[in-house]
Amino acid sequence: MTQKQQKVVILDFGSQYTQLIARRVREAGVYSEIHPCGISPDRLEELEPSALILSGGPASVSDPESPGLESSVLSLGCPVLGICYGMQLLARICGGRVQPSENREYGRADLEVLQDSPLFKGVAGPGDVLKVWMSHGDTVLEAPEGFAVPARTDQVDVAAMAHPGRGVHCLQFHPEVSHTEGGDRILRNFLFEVARLQPTWSMASFIDTQIREVRERVGSSKVVCGLSGGIDSTVVAVLLHEALGEQLHCIFVDNGLLRADEGEEVVQYLRRHFDLNLSYVQAQDEFLSRLEGVSDPEEKRRIVGNTFIEIFEREARSISGVRYLAQGTLYPDVIESVSSKGPSAVIKSHHNVGGLPERMDLELIEPLRELFKDEVRKVALELGLPDFLVWRHPFPGPGLAIRMIGQLDSQGLEILRQADRIVHNELMASGWYFKIWQGFAVLLPMKTVGVMGDERTYEHVVALRVVESTDAMTADWAKLPDELLSKISNRIINEVRGVNRVVLDISSKPPSTIEWE
Ligand code: XMP
Repeated sequence: MTQKQQKVVILDFGSQYTQLIARRVREAGVYSEIHPCGISPDRLEELEPSALILSGGPASVSDPESPGLESSVLSLGCPVLGICYGMQLLARICGGRVQPSENREYGRADLEVLQDSPLFKGVAGPGDVLKVWMSHGDTVLEAPEGFAVPARTDQVDVAAMAHPGRGVHCLQFHPEVSHTEGGDRILRNFLFEVARLQPTWSMASFIDTQIREVRERVGSSKVVCGLSGGIDSTVVAVLLHEALGEQLHCIFVDNGLLRADEGEEVVQYLRRHFDLNLSYVQAQDEFLSRLEGVSDPEEKRRIVGNTFIEIFEREARSISGVRYLAQGTLYPDVIESVSSKGPSAVIKSHHNVGGLPERMDLELIEPLRELFKDEVRKVALELGLPDFLVWRHPFPGPGLAIRMIGQLDSQGLEILRQADRIVHNELMASGWYFKIWQGFAVLLPMKTVGVMGDERTYEHVVALRVVESTDAMTADWAKLPDELLSKISNRIINEVRGVNRVVLDISSKPPSTIEWE
C-alpha cells in the first residue's frame, strides 16, 4: 500500500454485518479498515479516510448509553454513508427526528424508490420496488432539513435519505447482505459514483500491506507460528516467511486429534518448498490425558487451546528472542468466540481465540483476522500455493475432539479416523469434495442394535455431516446423490469395525452449527 492509497473507514457500532461491509468494499477493489465507533475525532482525522461508512448496531439512539457520533465527522471533507443505526445517528446530528418505532422491522421488506439517487443508479428508478433486508428498532420519522428522501417502505416513510451537497447518504436497510436486491451495486455506487474512488486494491496489495506491517511490528524479534496442516495456518506461515525469513520458526503439533494422515502431506510440501525452520512435536499423550473424562464441548475446546499454547510457549523458550506467536485466526473464529456489547454472543470458543489462556507469554500476530475463508483462499492462490492445499476443507483446531461427541477414548478416535477417511475418499472420487464446504464423520456417544450375518450387533453410530457454505457464517446441508450416500454408508458399516449404523445430518446453520460441538 502506498501512502496515498484510498481508504474507506468503517465505524463499527456493533452490527453483526460490519465485517460484511468491509468485505463488500474490498471485493469492489477498495481498501477498507474497521475502527470502533468510540474512535477519537483526532485519530479519525489522522486516518485520512477517503470515505466513511457508519455501520448498523443493536442500540437505540434514544438510549442515553448508546454510542454517539461527533458532528465533526461531517467536516472531515469525505462522503459519509450511514447504514441503519448509522443513518439514525446522522439524522439526529443533522436535526432530523428519530424515535423507537412502533413497528419494528426485521427481515425482508419492499423498498419503494421515490426519486433518483446516485446510490440507486443502475439498480432502480422512481416507482420501482426492491426487496431489501431490514433489521431495526428505531426509525427516522422526519429527515433533517435539506435532505432528500429517495425511498420508503410500508413501515417507514424515510427508508433512505441524502444530502448530496454535504456528501451524506443514508440507508435504513442493509445493502451489504446478499438478500438485498442490488445491494452490492448500491454500495459500489457509494464508492465510485459518490466518493469517486478507484478500484485499485487487491489481495496482492493485502499481502504487501501485511508483510510491511509484520516487519515493522516484529523488528529483529522472532516469531513462532503454529501450523495445523490447514489452509489458514499455512497461509500465515508462508506470508510470514516472506516477511521475516529466518526469524520465523514453525511448529507442527501432533495432538492425537488429527485425521488419518492429517498434516503429513502439508508438512512434506512445506518442507520441500519453504525453509520454515519447522519442528514437529509429538504431543498425543499430553493432549489425550488432559482430555480424559471430559465431555463438555467448551471444556474440551479450552483444554486443547491451552495445551497448544503451553506447547508453543515451551518450544518458543528453546529458541532465543521469540516474542510473538502467529496464528491463522479468521473472522468467523473471532466473532463466534468473542462476546461484545453488540449482538454477537459466544457460540463456541474457537481454539485459536476463545481457548487462549488469560495470561500468555507471547504476543499474538493474526494477519488473517479480518478475512473470511474464501478470501484466505484468494490470498493462498496469490501466494502460489497448490490446489490441494487451497481447496482443502476446513478442519477445526480442536480436531477430532469435537467430532467424537462426549468423552474421548483412543478406540473411538480410531473408529472416527477410519470413517472419516472413507467419507473423504468417496467425496474426492465422486468430485463432490470440491463442490461443498465441508464433509466429515461424527462419532456419537451411543450404541444401537443391528444385525450382521445372522448375528445381533450392538455398536456405534456415525453421523455424516456435509454442508455447503461460502463463509461458514451460514450453511445448508448438501444434497448428495442417494447412490453416493449409500456407498459411504455401506463402506463405513462394512469396513469400520465397531460401527453398525450411519445417519445423515440434515440441519442448516443457523439454527445448528457445522461442527457438532
Ligand atoms: P461452526 O461449527 O461454528 O464452524 O459452525 C464454522 C467453521 O469453523 C470451523 N471451526 C473451527 N475452526 N478452530 C478453527 O480453526 C475451531 O475451534 C473451530 N470450530 C469450528 C468449522 O469446521 C467450520 O468450518
